[in-house]
Amino acid sequence: RVLSGRSLDLTGRHVVVSAGGTREAIDPVRFIGNRSSGLQGYALARTAAARGARVTLVAANVALPDPAGVAVVRVESALQLRDAVLEAVADADAVVMAAAVADFRPAARSDSKIKKTSAEPGAVHLVKNPDILAELGERRREGAAPYPAVIAGFAAETDDVLANGRAKLARKGCDLLVVNQVGENLAFGTPDNAAVVLSADAEPVEIPRGPKEALADVVWDLVAARLP
Ligand code: CTP
Ligand code: CA
Repeated sequence: RVLSGRSLDLTGRHVVVSAGGTREAIDPVRFIGNRSSGLQGYALARTAAARGARVTLVAANVALPDPAGVAVVRVESALQLRDAVLEAVADADAVVMAAAVADFRPAARSDSKIKKTSAEPGAVHLVKNPDILAELGERRREGAAPYPAVIAGFAAETDDVLANGRAKLARKGCDLLVVNQVGENLAFGTPDNAAVVLSADAEPVEIPRGPKEALADVVWDLVAARLP
């Protein structure tokens, strides 16, 4: 950190990071989930704290110890994650949405365990979850608190990664979108990551394959440059 010159550049700032992956309950024992480990979000929280920020980490189903000096709010579902993020951003300077939020949830959660009967199983009906990142962008556009000054998201893409990322950045109304290419043993559950960071008003920033902390530090550099 001394070498990077980043040192304590986030002192006096409150940043919110979401991490992990939401679980959407089907019944008391089953859920729809995803493969997010939370490693990238935790790396973001640790590096922000190391750079002096007050950090609120909204963690969805992460099997990792709480980072030192970070306020951790544990959630399970997308609706809970939304509530926790909106509460935390009320006095925050920036949010980085690294969590994998389920796009859909079962329309109804069975209070009893669904039993295997002789009949064929019924379908699980899904409804859309709120898009938390898009909501933050919309709140900011409309001046409808709570929203932070700087809003960043993550996206994992396949196929035309850059085109998909650009379209998503525009759709979400965020400042920065960290786009991972899925595959090549990167992203999910691995200590390394590689990405390109897109923004509406600057050239893409390529982050070469390396530790998730290194990627996190570049994300905070870009966030810090946008703080008022
Ligand atoms: N996100 C969110 N709320 C959701 C879904 C996603 O806040 N309901 C956030 C994620 O935390 C991430 C960003 O939006 O920062 C992009 O997530 P992604 O799943 O790539 O975007 P989607 O708009 O859901 O598009 P896709 O159809 O590709 O899944
Ligand atoms: Ca999605």
